[in-house]
Amino acid sequence: MSANAELVVDLDQYRANLAALRSYAPDALQMAVVKANAYGHGMVPVARAARLGGADWLGVATPDEALALRAAGDEGPLLCWLMTPGVPFGELADAGVDVTASTVDQLEAIAVSSDRPRVQLKVDTGLSRNGAFGAQWDALVAAAARLQSAGSLEVTGIWSHFACADEPGHPANDEQETVFRAAVDQLATAGVRPEVRHLANSAATVTRPSSHLDLVRVGIASYGLDPDPAVSVPEVRPVMTARSVLAQVKRVPAGASVSYGWRWTAEHETTLGLVPVGYGEGIHRTASNRAEMGFAASRVPVRGTICMDQLVVDLGDRPARIGDPITVFGPGDDGEPTAQDWAEAAGTINYEIVTRLAGRWSRTYRGGR
Ligand SMILES: Cc1ncc(COP(=O)(O)O)c(C=O)c1O
Repeated sequence: MSANAELVVDLDQYRANLAALRSYAPDALQMAVVKANAYGHGMVPVARAARLGGADWLGVATPDEALALRAAGDEGPLLCWLMTPGVPFGELADAGVDVTASTVDQLEAIAVSSDRPRVQLKVDTGLSRNGAFGAQWDALVAAAARLQSAGSLEVTGIWSHFACADEPGHPANDEQETVFRAAVDQLATAGVRPEVRHLANSAATVTRPSSHLDLVRVGIASYGLDPDPAVSVPEVRPVMTARSVLAQVKRVPAGASVSYGWRWTAEHETTLGLVPVGYGEGIHRTASNRAEMGFAASRVPVRGTICMDQLVVDLGDRPARIGDPITVFGPGDDGEPTAQDWAEAAGTINYEIVTRLAGRWSRTYRGGR
C-alpha cells in the first residue's frame, strides 16, 4: 500500500451511474455486478454503495466473492454464477446466496446441501460458456421441476448472457433472445416460474429494451465506462482515478535512450519523469511508447518500455519536481487520459484496464453514503 500509487474511487459518481442506468430500464430490477473486486474498484465499498444506491441485487462470479460480501455484512439478494468443483453449496444456501446451476449434477448437489436452497438456472443461449445447452437444458428443466415440487429447492431465476451485446446490430443478439424466451417457456411448461428472468448486461441495458425482462445486470457502465466505443453511455462518468507522483525528475540531452531495449531516444533535450508504477501494478506493458498520462492539466507521453515497478514519461520543458502529482487515467476532466485511452494504447478493452490493476495501489473512497 502506498500513497505513491493511489486509486481514488468516487462512490457518489458510482451511485449516480446506477441511477442513470436505472432510467434505461425503469421497469426492471437492477443487479449491480461487483465481481473481480468490483472491476478493480474494491468489492466491499462498492457493494455497500450499490445497496445504498438502491441496487436490488448484487452479482458476483465466484462463491468466495459471495461469501466475502456476506462476511462484510451484506444481506440483500445476491447471485453467484461460476460454480467450480468443491463449491460449499450448503454454506452459500445458509448465507442466503442464490447459486447457479448449469448441470443436473450441480442441481442435485445443491438440492441436498441445505433446507430448500435458492438456485437460478443458467441456459446457454449461444455464448457457449457456462450454462446448459440442448439436451442438457432439457434434463436440467426436468430435474428442476422434480426437485422443486419435492420441496428440495427453490428455483428463483432463469438467466443467460449475450455474446455480442456490444455490437447492437449483430444477429446473435436476436437469436439469443429468441432462444432465451423459448427456454423460459419450456421451464414454465414444466411448472417452474421463477421470480427473475434475466439476460441483459450493460450494453443490452442501454441498447436493447426487449432484453430487459425482470432484471438487468450492470457492470462496466456502472463504473462509468462505455461497454464499447460503439455503445456510448453519455450519462455515466468514470468512477476511478489512478494517480501517482513523480519519483525522480531529470533533464537529458538529445540522444538519451530510455528504459529496457532503448525503444525510445530523445530527439531534443527534454525532462524525463519517473513514475513508480509498472506492470506489477497491472499497467499494461503493451502500452509502452504509446500511452499518455496527465500532468499539470496536460498530457505527457510514456516513453520507452514500461517496467515491472516504474515507467518514464516525457515532460518536455514543463517545470517539474519530485513529488508532483501525475495521473495515469481518470474521468478526463483535467486533460488526463481515460481508461478507454489506455485500452486503445494497450490494445485491449477498458474492462481489462481497471480490473487488472494489482500490486501496490492503495484505494481511497469518496462519498457513497
Ligand atoms: C454473467 C454476467 N452478467 C453481467 C455482467 C456485466 O457485464 P457488463 O460489465 O458488460 O455490464 C458480466 C460481466 O462480464 C457477467 O459475466
